[in-house]
Amino acid sequence: MTTIRIPGLIDAHVHLREPGYTHKEDFYTGTAAALAGGVTAVLDMPNTVPPTDTPERFAEKAALAAAKAVCDVGLFVGATTDQLDAYLPIAQHACGLKIYVSETFGSLRIEDLGLLHRFFRSWSEVAGGGWQVAGGDPVLPSPQSPVPNPRSPIAVHAEELMLPVCLNLSHLYNVPLHIVHVTRRSEIELIRRAKEQGYPVTCEVTPHHLFLSSDDLPRLGSRGDMRPKLASPDDVAALWENLAVVDIFATDHAPHTLTEKALPKPPPGVPGVETLLPLLLTAVHDGRLELDDILRRCVENPRRIYGVPDQPDTFVDVDVDARYELSDASQHTKAGWTPFAGQFVFGKVEKVTLRGQPVYDGDRILAEPGSGKVLFQAV
Ligand code: DOR
Ligand code: ZN
Repeated sequence: MTTIRIPGLIDAHVHLREPGYTHKEDFYTGTAAALAGGVTAVLDMPNTVPPTDTPERFAEKAALAAAKAVCDVGLFVGATTDQLDAYLPIAQHACGLKIYVSETFGSLRIEDLGLLHRFFRSWSEVAGGGWQVAGGDPVLPSPQSPVPNPRSPIAVHAEELMLPVCLNLSHLYNVPLHIVHVTRRSEIELIRRAKEQGYPVTCEVTPHHLFLSSDDLPRLGSRGDMRPKLASPDDVAALWENLAVVDIFATDHAPHTLTEKALPKPPPGVPGVETLLPLLLTAVHDGRLELDDILRRCVENPRRIYGVPDQPDTFVDVDVDARYELSDASQHTKAGWTPFAGQFVFGKVEKVTLRGQPVYDGDRILAEPGSGKVLFQAV
């Protein structure tokens, strides 16, 4: 048994499904799953019903999170075709603007260049000002900064040909761009090139795209269906070859029930927030990653890229020698399953402490609903 103490992780890409899809997840169950996985802050996506695209809807979602969350939660605003600029007054209270440019779950999608242009231009005016490029890396704003989150990026789901479109818009407007769940060799190589040229771009990769490939689809069936789809073994190899280009490991925790996954047209997406740390620690055990690779991509970089505030006295005690089998039954997510069921991993979370309070004891959630903070709200 070797227990190490690490900072609480930040999962910069989760779908906690509230409001609208609370049969899949809610702010309590999703943040409880986060704590069980050693994650003490999550950034929640806007493709709920209704979507998070107006000040009223943002306030409604923030109130739900404030009442139920057991870890800290930042909220994205979403670009939608019917509300357009309505989100602008609350832009600086969001962790970022999410634009779905490629096919996904739900109705949010921006495919029109005119609209895309409009979102980049207006975001650069409201949220891009505090951001500078230093050696290609985003740098922290001054601590006296008067706004809660002065330099939040546009986060895009942009696959294939939509990737260079978004890269160029971010370059033209000098607006920080974060590419979520990169999967293909062509995409990671293009992002590497853009970074070399000083574009204000960062990117993330999910554990499922690092540890699974299209070869796993016959075994997984619809449990292996998500957007972007699982890629070829060569694409997966390219992500590992270009790890230096990958700023963040984030899960795209996208719970759907097993009943939904058994439908003729199953919704795409897989849960992941509570398997992030053991999967990555298993890669450390196997000599594919170093612990520092995890901490940089799951703590330091999400904090810097999204401006997530420091969580004092917050840490995770994890037994890195403990080997166990992941199972559906042991998951805290309301969805109750994981695409990694049956896989043996190293790294058992024994205790999580948030702001000095024990919030998870390796078995039970100890935190009270509402003890998590909604980020970027107070000036
Ligand atoms: O597979 C996915 N599911 N990809 C996404 O981008 C969205 C997500 C969801 O919300 O279910
Ligand atoms: Zn997502």
